Amino acid sequence: MDGNGRWAKLRGLPRTAGHRRGVEAVRETVKAAVDLGIGYLTLYGFSSENWNRPPPEVHDLMGLLRFYLRSEIAELHRQGVRLRSIGDRGRLSSDIVRLIEEAEERTRANAKLNLTIALSYGGRDEILRAVRMIAADVAAGRLAPAAVDEAALESRLFTLGLPDPDLIIRTSGEQRISNFLLWQSAYSELVFDDCLWPDFGRDNLRRAVEEFQRRERRYGTAVA
Ligand code: IPE
Ligand code: MG
Repeated sequence: MDGNGRWAKLRGLPRTAGHRRGVEAVRETVKAAVDLGIGYLTLYGFSSENWNRPPPEVHDLMGLLRFYLRSEIAELHRQGVRLRSIGDRGRLSSDIVRLIEEAEERTRANAKLNLTIALSYGGRDEILRAVRMIAADVAAGRLAPAAVDEAALESRLFTLGLPDPDLIIRTSGEQRISNFLLWQSAYSELVFDDCLWPDFGRDNLRRAVEEFQRRERRYGTAVA
């Protein structure tokens, strides 16, 4: 989800106004994902690098997150959405962690859409944490070096239990991954949409899925 700041700047508004409209886009996109029958949707809400933004902006973003969690859970639950969050919870404030835990608990049995919000998330950070856990297990003699395979690493990622993404959409015209699901995106299809995130909605999601359907996925094998 990129382009909130530019959306606001184009209108002479403060960046926060862009983030607020971004929340509306989240609402619409989640509904559209449910309607399209998408099983898993992961939103990159706040990266480990976003902590380096000016403190007032970080404060506003955390305020919006709190607002979203408080106001949206009942509706998500009603829609059959299971909510999860991935990322470094240690850096989030304790009341936000509590709201996340409550939402995860309350929506645990839902299966219509698995909505994951990446918060204080960084792909490199995630891989490093897994490597540290593996190193500790090896050092303690619980794990043989030869047993360190893809499954061993994946079982220590935040995304344990979630499938790798088939499609990754980035908005605002930027064409890079920016530390999102680095391990998991090995074979993901990438779609770039010039639209700024607050303007993203149902039609954008549908077009991205259509684009995905035209791609030929080979996973390293030869052209048929
Ligand atoms: C994305 O919009 C929202 C978050 C990263 C939380 P930006 O805030 O990155 O908007 P731009 O890139 O400055 O337009
Ligand atoms: Mg940005």
